[in-house]
Amino acid sequence: MTTAPTAAKGLEGVIAGETEICNVEQTSLIYRGYEIADLAANASFEEVAYLLLVGEKPTSSELAAFKAELVAERALPAQVCEFLKGSGDLVNNHNAVPMDILRTGVSILSHLDGDSQDNAPEANLRKSKRLLAQIPTIIGHMQNSIDGRDFVAPDASLSHSANLLKMMTGENPTPEAEKVMDVSLVLYAEHDYNASTFTSRIIASTLGDMHGAVTGAIAALKGKLHGGANEAAMDMLSDIRRDIGPENDTAKITEWMHNAFAEKRKLMGFGHRVYKNGDHRAPILHALGRKAAEARGDEFVKLFELGETVQKIMEDEKNIYPNVDFPCGMTYFTMGIPVPQYTPIFVASRITGWCAHIMEQHANNRLIRPRVAYVGPALRNWKS
Ligand code: CMC
Repeated sequence: MTTAPTAAKGLEGVIAGETEICNVEQTSLIYRGYEIADLAANASFEEVAYLLLVGEKPTSSELAAFKAELVAERALPAQVCEFLKGSGDLVNNHNAVPMDILRTGVSILSHLDGDSQDNAPEANLRKSKRLLAQIPTIIGHMQNSIDGRDFVAPDASLSHSANLLKMMTGENPTPEAEKVMDVSLVLYAEHDYNASTFTSRIIASTLGDMHGAVTGAIAALKGKLHGGANEAAMDMLSDIRRDIGPENDTAKITEWMHNAFAEKRKLMGFGHRVYKNGDHRAPILHALGRKAAEARGDEFVKLFELGETVQKIMEDEKNIYPNVDFPCGMTYFTMGIPVPQYTPIFVASRITGWCAHIMEQHANNRLIRPRVAYVGPALRNWKS
């Protein structure tokens, strides 16, 4: 007698592959052997990007060469610029959101990349660097189009983080804003077999190309249960503020949350499939974001205080902790970044993790093709 196969819903607990890139554990988050708090305190985003893509920490000359390559690849082909010129209309007057524009922008890039059909390791590394350099330019140009401004050209004198902020606003960021952005990108860069990375590996496992795998990954990251949670977390705090009024009244916040619990609504930016005792990235970003809020003034401190009250109630009543997207929402808001760009900025970082995984998949490939437990109708005849 054969027993019916059972499925792990959401693949919970399933070990779906091997990787040398990252380890997400209850007690730690490690990129290629380095702990996340160590990287957040001591490494720049470009160093982390190199570590993930190449496999080792760069020497100073390797880092300088890597940065120069990224700077040289920031400009976009004319056809992508043409598309982005119309992106403001698509967002402002139609149904597009920035994550969709970014997904299409990456897809158009594939038509114009000389390496796009080549999955060889050298071609994949060249494409990884190009995508890493080009994605902030897509985000910047798109934001300028949404705001009805001319595009801001990439600034070769600026780091990945500072250039991203400048292209969105036209202004040089302060060193403090650059630092907060940089650390947030370090924190977001990689997270083993999360949904978008797994998507990218599935596409790569068919011998699909890097741009295709990244396009699919962007679509997966957009969802609110994954990367879209940083926007959703900020939207939720705005909803709470609208409903409770200008003061952080704990009783009103508690009532708001009890209503959400009663309606079985998920609070955005809380919970995690792996981390059940807290996300290691969250307190790092929270501390930085709060400092930025203190520098910006009362309105922003009050936002963090609201978030801290929500967090305390979640922890006390549900034993559920914030994930990195919760402080990210408050932090990017404090920095004046438009909410619909929070998840595209996540992409500007996670592109490194995706590309590292796509290269790892191509280097030791086997088609990812699991089985499923069939629970549909028993066999029947079409004609009867
Ligand atoms: N708000 C309220 N209750 C929650 C939440 C939440 N955010 N997260 C989990 N729970 C409850 C859930 O209702 C369930 O309760 P019960 O056992 O009574 O039914 C219990 O905790 C276990 O949750 P689960 O949904 O089985 O856990 P999961 O591993 O399937 O879900 C998750 C993980 C991230 C999808 C979920 O926590 C969630 O929907 N969170 C909100 C969205 C979010 O913040 N996503 C970002 C994820 S991490 C970073 C990233 O990917 O960008």
